[in-house]
Amino acid sequence: MTLLVQPINAVLGAEVSGLDLSQPLDAATRQQLNALFAQHAVLVFRDQPLTPPQFMQAAEVFGELMPQQIKKFALPDYPLVGANSTLDLPRKNGKLQVRGENYHTDHSNEVTPPKSTALVAVQIPSHGGDTQFVDVRRAYADLPLALKEKIASLRSLHVHESSRSPRSFAKLSAEQMAAIPHTAQPLVIRHPVSGVPALYLNTGRMEGVVGMLEDEGFALIDALYLHATQPCYEYRHQWRVGDFVIWDNRSVMHQANADYDPEEFRYLYRVMLKGDALTSAFAST
Ligand code: SIN
Repeated sequence: MTLLVQPINAVLGAEVSGLDLSQPLDAATRQQLNALFAQHAVLVFRDQPLTPPQFMQAAEVFGELMPQQIKKFALPDYPLVGANSTLDLPRKNGKLQVRGENYHTDHSNEVTPPKSTALVAVQIPSHGGDTQFVDVRRAYADLPLALKEKIASLRSLHVHESSRSPRSFAKLSAEQMAAIPHTAQPLVIRHPVSGVPALYLNTGRMEGVVGMLEDEGFALIDALYLHATQPCYEYRHQWRVGDFVIWDNRSVMHQANADYDPEEFRYLYRVMLKGDALTSAFAST
């Protein structure tokens, strides 16, 4: 089989074809895919109707699987695989309360957040339910120099749910909350593989900026977020059944959409890959 790579747009993403991900891949192909992933940050493989064990095998091409954090969504027979299902979603005024409905990077309050997340589409509504990605490497690169200098050494405390979060997170018991990590992450991280600097933002979890007055810190976060979520940094993935999509949580933010008929069924398998502790892009300065 010949591996074909089609960049998705001028900013990010690539569609890869000519592979059957239900089968083990040789070392050279695995290396090639990892190089493509470091470059494009979002890889799309169409027509891969994978079973949970095949999905795990395919995702492991890119790293080591990480335990699901919200255990109630884990598949009983394959606990490293989560189910992203409309049947699990609460409704408010008839609208589904979709998980991940504002741009974010997964579990950023962890000391070692997942480096990647991957989904396989099992069932998809007839319209809507796209997943959007924005490239936070490009967004950082385009900032004015004065702003780059201002944020170079700044950090934000990432918590379970920010006091100004635009969305609600799972409600946890006092015992569960006590076990949840809070981590001061750099506003600008250095990618552990490519070395490329990127903004590291998650308005659902960022509790201001360390060393800044509360309102000033949140205003800075909001300005960076507004900049990074512009359409010029975006790839919007329209799902088809059998799509395997993997993204790099250190290079993109992503968001889900609740714009589909809540009576239609949407179901995807989801895995995450273990990541490293994040370092500032300017750690040596
Ligand atoms: C997620 O944020 O991981 C879910 C994305 C989606 O369901 O579109």
